[in-house]
Amino acid sequence: MAGNRTFTMIKPGAVKAGHIGSILKHITDGGFRIVALKFTHLTKQKAEGFYAVHSERPFFGELTEFMSSGPIIAAILEKDNAVEDFRTLIGATNPADAAEGTIRALYATSIGENAVHGSDSDENAAIEGNFHFAATEMF
Ligand code: CMP
Repeated sequence: MAGNRTFTMIKPGAVKAGHIGSILKHITDGGFRIVALKFTHLTKQKAEGFYAVHSERPFFGELTEFMSSGPIIAAILEKDNAVEDFRTLIGATNPADAAEGTIRALYATSIGENAVHGSDSDENAAIEGNFHFAATEMF
């Protein structure tokens, strides 16, 4: 059965460009309820821990430098079929391929600086949410 929670981050580029409010509105207008929300700044080490699954990829250094380059918004979101529906809302990883009207089509500048993260499975949504939030911070 599809799960009802996913995890997202608004990445440093979109935060710097002033898109926090627009992106959160896009998310809640899309039918997602905010379960947990945090404005924080990842250390390089924390970014490496979060993206450990990509540690062998050629873009790992660039990705973790970028993700620790400025503050981010982290959030857990709730909706039926959350992981799949959120991936539809944000669009393809590379904004050049993202469907019109999606968050990445509107706010991303490149595949590396692609505005938002979205979990790719129910299992990773739980792992990623627990990476950033204690149970007492989920409502
Ligand atoms: P995200 O959904 O946060 O998950 C992993 C991230 O790695 C992805 O978004 C992209 O920002 C980044 N990424 C994936 N492929 C590349 C690439 N070829 N070059 C740079 N960054 C990439």
